[in-house]
Amino acid sequence: MAPHPLIEQFTRAGQGQVFAFFDQLAPDAQRRLLAEAAEVDLAEIARLTRTLLAPGAAAGVDLRGLVPAPYEPLPDHGGDAAAWAKARAAGEAALRAGRVAAFTVAGGQGTRLGYEGPKGAFPVTPVRGKPLFQVFAEKIRAAGLRYGRPLHWFVMTSHQNHAATEAFFAEHKFFGLDRAHVHFFRQGRMPAVDFTGRILLESPGALALSPDGHGGSLRALERSGALDLLEREGIDTLSYFQVDNPLVRCIDPAFIGWHVLRASQMSSKMIPKAHAEEKLGHFCLQAGRLVVVEYSDLPLAMQHETLSDGRLRYSAGSIAIHLLDRDFIRQMASGGASLPFHRADKKVPTIDAAGRPVKPASANGVKFELFVFDALPFAKNPLVIETRRADDFSPVKNAEGADSPQTCRDDQLRQFARWLAAHGAAVATDATGRPKAEIEISPLFGYDEESFAEAWKKLSPQPPVSAGLYLAP
Ligand code: UTP
Repeated sequence: MAPHPLIEQFTRAGQGQVFAFFDQLAPDAQRRLLAEAAEVDLAEIARLTRTLLAPGAAAGVDLRGLVPAPYEPLPDHGGDAAAWAKARAAGEAALRAGRVAAFTVAGGQGTRLGYEGPKGAFPVTPVRGKPLFQVFAEKIRAAGLRYGRPLHWFVMTSHQNHAATEAFFAEHKFFGLDRAHVHFFRQGRMPAVDFTGRILLESPGALALSPDGHGGSLRALERSGALDLLEREGIDTLSYFQVDNPLVRCIDPAFIGWHVLRASQMSSKMIPKAHAEEKLGHFCLQAGRLVVVEYSDLPLAMQHETLSDGRLRYSAGSIAIHLLDRDFIRQMASGGASLPFHRADKKVPTIDAAGRPVKPASANGVKFELFVFDALPFAKNPLVIETRRADDFSPVKNAEGADSPQTCRDDQLRQFARWLAAHGAAVATDATGRPKAEIEISPLFGYDEESFAEAWKKLSPQPPVSAGLYLAP
């Protein structure tokens, strides 16, 4: 029998190893392997092998002409308070007009945290142990109630976690959201290759496939029909955030207002870096275009450069919070411009020549990933605004140490304590502002300081701030 045309194509492309065990597979498994192989763009893999894997290819990013990007500072750092107030009003109007939807990228593998199950199911809040997805759901619900327009929420999953994510939401009755407003879609995937560009197998009948990076969200939004839904609903702005950051203001009226008033196609939040070597990307301008340069790509000497007043020159850290214009996403997903793939050397579980599983102790292969911030140079009127770290950023990345469940819980506690203390409650804290007692405020009670203050004022009597206090409507 003549070999399958796809097998011939792979063999001609030097990727015949993908079918090394084909004849030993049951018909079903053969069909599954062929279906996976059909997803692979062989020309793309060949191009990436040439551009990212060839000796000398990884020469680093081009830093010529790089300067720090301008941003809108907060009023207490010299920003124009009236302009911020105007932005907030414009954002509130956009929310009342139903122009905004929330968007969470939740397709990552979460290897550093090492949690079984979708990362969004990980419990994060200090008293109730609410999972990340519940925190976002309650913030989105609260914003919908406040502005009189329930928001749609798009959640990007991966092939690995899609079914478990849907099941988690169903099990928790969508955390009180209308299930017709919550939309799940899978991101694309890419095969991992060895250092010479040969596609790796995870088992005799399966490719080593992994999610194509958060930048894959743009084409996945298009492919899944999400953009058509946005268009039908009259939604032109997506509020993009990561699944690992419960502090994020998922729906931030001032940010939305800046984006709308400036007719920006893609807007971003920055925080001043805590120290020169903090591991955040840097907002920069290059040839007049906004770019994010990863910390690993900015030479240490530049990371340490200071201005005459002692502040870091490259201080604008990216925290992966963006607003995206619907038509811009469409243009990026289907137009001529496309995001570049990045190379990440990883330990990729694979098989040996006899088909036996191999668990590598060090990186044995390369994954290709797209990054959403690479869309910035293509956006018209891109805008960066400052935000306070304490109000927007405390990710759970690692099981322990920095950016871990512990640091995130502490940051949530500090935020609750700050809001309470600012509005008259007696709160005992340590020198870092962490309250002595574990307390929690539901986003449905207050999801930012302003909404909290309104609800707190109405409470009579106001409860004492003691261990286990949980404020909810
Ligand atoms: P990270 O870069 O922290 O990666 O993702 P990760 O896969 O979650 O975690 P590690 O590196 O394996 O420990 C940042 C955000 O981008 C999403 C993640 O779900 C997270 O919200 N993401 C990342 C995707 O949605 N898809 C991807 O392919 C990669």
